Amino acid sequence: MRILSGMQPSGKAHIGNYLGAMRQHISMQNEGDCFYFLANYHALTTVRDGTRLKELSFELAVDYLALGLNPNKTTFFLQSDVPELTELTWIFDTISPLGLLERAHAWKDAKAKGKKDMTVGLFNYPVLMACDILMYGPDKVPVGQDQKQHVEITNDIAGHFNHIYGETFKPVEVVIVEDVAVVQGTDGQKMSKSYGNTIDIFADESTLKKQVMGIKTDSLGIDDQKNPKECIPFQLLSHFASPDEVKSVEEKLIKGGFGYGELKKQLLSSLLSYFAEARERRIELLKKPDFITDILKEGGKKARKIAQEKMEEVRKKVGLN
Ligand code: ADP
Ligand code: TRP
Repeated sequence: MRILSGMQPSGKAHIGNYLGAMRQHISMQNEGDCFYFLANYHALTTVRDGTRLKELSFELAVDYLALGLNPNKTTFFLQSDVPELTELTWIFDTISPLGLLERAHAWKDAKAKGKKDMTVGLFNYPVLMACDILMYGPDKVPVGQDQKQHVEITNDIAGHFNHIYGETFKPVEVVIVEDVAVVQGTDGQKMSKSYGNTIDIFADESTLKKQVMGIKTDSLGIDDQKNPKECIPFQLLSHFASPDEVKSVEEKLIKGGFGYGELKKQLLSSLLSYFAEARERRIELLKKPDFITDILKEGGKKARKIAQEKMEEVRKKVGLN
């Protein structure tokens, strides 16, 4: 079975990325032949500083490796090492109905929020994503909830292509873990790099403390009884603390006499201990930039070979070869 996913190097990886996507990426390495990539072509829609994009790509590669991505098992690469993707994007553009992309939530939200930077690239984002997926013929695509519609669009595009040119691309199954499908950020909205409401996996301790202490809570006092279901720091804690600890905090919140400050301190220490080993591995990896670059290069070669073969078939079918 082939498993594929990607993540944009558009900012620092946060615990929403981890719970919703990266953790599944790492654990699924034992279930099949995995392909994971850094979606740097996609990141160009928001990062407009070349040096910064390179840094962010390198850092995200280090983060994945520190969290347990095993390059001996998994093909790990940079999206841009497979330039065939841009050719397939054009071909898919010519058959993708405008209405299909106009219905994309990400595009509609950006428009509704009056985003200044409404580019053709942003509109076309799902088409490139369809190429990322269909190029390698995976069976499963593990992502967070916000990417579900993009995977559905991918299957629609595959269907259109197959209908016009004959069976070429196979539909994929989206894999979403329900209880972490949408992790809340410090302000209660979905945690996202673009909302400034993140808790970053590898932030230094003082930044992490600031992020955790900044989580929004209601104005109930220490002695008041609290509702754990509506308490963001508790919801986050439940993913990182032991079941016993979670149960005891839940009871204390319901009973009263346990304040949010104390709860946030507990969350901070859970995060630090949950990611302690990964933090150490990350420090070591940062000392070996060539090792990281070589892994990505090797992965890129393997991915590109598959893409080149697929493009031979596509070019023949559409009449370019
Ligand atoms: P961001 O919104 O922070 O820019 P990305 O779009 O780069 O995140 O998402 C990378 C992966 O992490 C995707 O699979 C996405 O669905 C998942 N993801 C992002 N934010 C969350 C969240 N708050 N909860 C669950 N999964 C998330
Ligand atoms: N759009 C995805 C995100 O923002 C990243 C991505 C690009 C992706 N291509 C992909 C995810 C292909 C899964 C499969 O997170």
